[in-house]
Amino acid sequence: MLICCGDVSKGWVNPFSHFNHTETDVAIVTCHMMLKATDLGLGSLWVGMFDPQKVTDTFELPEQEIPFALLLLGYAAEDAAPAPAHSVRKPLSETVSWL
Ligand SMILES: Cc1cc2nc3c(=O)[nH]c(=O)nc-3n(C[C@H](O)[C@H](O)[C@H](O)COP(=O)(O)O)c2cc1C
Repeated sequence: MLICCGDVSKGWVNPFSHFNHTETDVAIVTCHMMLKATDLGLGSLWVGMFDPQKVTDTFELPEQEIPFALLLLGYAAEDAAPAPAHSVRKPLSETVSWL
């Protein structure tokens, strides 16, 4: 499992919106690691449903490093199959808003 962290004190801040992009950058890196993992024949699972404080405490992470994502990696079992919802797609009208 990779703990994908970002240091918000070093993240780029948009001078107009004041939005700190650390989490965005960590998400981009995490996504690219998933692509590379697939390229290497590994399976991966992005986990966002976790308590960051517990991860920080358990792994004694430096205070400024915020864990934004957990990336589980492993070799898939031979009979592994995608979850039933894998190929279920909502209609665009439910996922896209035209403004
Ligand atoms: C930002 C983000 C957070 C996610 N968090 C979780 C999670 O906490 N637990 C989980 O089971 N799946 C989580 N997922 C979903 C899995 O990583 C994966 O996308 C999902 O199981 C669907 O996989 P499939 O499209 O190959 O079927 C998350 C996905 C994303 C993009």
